[in-house]
Amino acid sequence: MAELKYISGFGNECASEDPRCPGALPEGQNNPQVCPYNLYAEQLSGSAFTCPRSTNKRSWLYRILPSVSHKPFESVDQGHVTHNWDEVGPDPNQLRWKPFEIPKASQKKVDFVSGLHTLCGAGDIRSNNGLAVHIFLCNTSMDRRCFYNSDGDFLIVPQKGKLLIYTEFGKMLVQPKEICVIQRGMRFSIDVFEETRGYILEVYGIHFELPDLGPIGANGLANPRDFLIPVAWYEDLQVPGGFTVINKYQGKLFAAKQDVSPFNVVAWHGNYTPYKYNLENFMVINSVAFDHADPSIFTVLTAKSVRPGVAIADFVIFPPRWGVAEKTFRPPYYHRNCMSEFMGLIKGHYEAKQGGFLPGGGSLHSPMTPHGPDADCFEKASKARLVPERIADGTMAFMFESSLSMAVTRNAAGPN
Ligand SMILES: [Fe+2]
Repeated sequence: MAELKYISGFGNECASEDPRCPGALPEGQNNPQVCPYNLYAEQLSGSAFTCPRSTNKRSWLYRILPSVSHKPFESVDQGHVTHNWDEVGPDPNQLRWKPFEIPKASQKKVDFVSGLHTLCGAGDIRSNNGLAVHIFLCNTSMDRRCFYNSDGDFLIVPQKGKLLIYTEFGKMLVQPKEICVIQRGMRFSIDVFEETRGYILEVYGIHFELPDLGPIGANGLANPRDFLIPVAWYEDLQVPGGFTVINKYQGKLFAAKQDVSPFNVVAWHGNYTPYKYNLENFMVINSVAFDHADPSIFTVLTAKSVRPGVAIADFVIFPPRWGVAEKTFRPPYYHRNCMSEFMGLIKGHYEAKQGGFLPGGGSLHSPMTPHGPDADCFEKASKARLVPERIADGTMAFMFESSLSMAVTRNAAGPN
């Protein structure tokens, strides 16, 4: 696979043309009477037209045929995708899942969409307020099928196997220890190369932002330049009824046939794009004297609620770092939190959960449910010599933390 190119920077105003069609972007205007190469101009709005500039998001796509060229949408099998938060009764206990089993390709072919399973979530799609946590378990590339989400943004965390993601904006290769965000309405298709697993944080009707840094200053945590945006790439493919567009709309799946590849955008410009980020670029901030800073120092991206400082969802990581705090109990402290904490493990072992929390599994700590280190960890850490030590080498754990109280689906409450 030839190395893919990217544009660097978070949320920038970008412009990109497939090099096979120089001059495909109209100059000086968005909507000329006739576009270069007779392309069709189409705006994709990611925010209300009248949002303030700081949150206003849209892109202009110049494509071989407009997206509207499709047969009607029809309801299709929902699989394990749901937004019904009343399937099982609430349970405040700590929940833990073993690694989610990936179906064997020799037994059943499953692609990214048919391999989606909703684990937990909260809120309401129709009022654009809430989130869902899904996993994907697949072994086959999407074949002339693309997907888009009318409900919200997907933050995708691959755990096993790399993803080659075709989008209307170009191609991205996303490997474990990288993440990507595909925002509301953007069509994409995923190729996989082995039995593949990962996690998805979906937020309804809002977008992820970099957290404010306060006294940290202008630099640190996830730096804007490390976010990568694909460059324009198109395929000029027409097959009568040959392409299927799958849409998640109000939590339900629909499919429409069309004759043309959805990846027919020759050029685009704007600030509403998919993007990816390598978690190894995260600049870790930590205590260098005593005690712990709160885990919010590990926030990569946040999806804010309307209440200041309160997130619908934060994406938080626990990367390799030094522990140097003196006169301090260094493991994560005992606590009760008003937030929901869904944790997953990309690789290695998480310092505060030695047994039973394995790569590809998960845990959910619900609001105010007590949690903290086990007795053995407490004993050891209370007596340990406090020399500088490496923490979490070879490990990457993460948390989806939400101010909403999440419900578990029937699928996730079942035996595992
Ligand atoms: Fe916690």
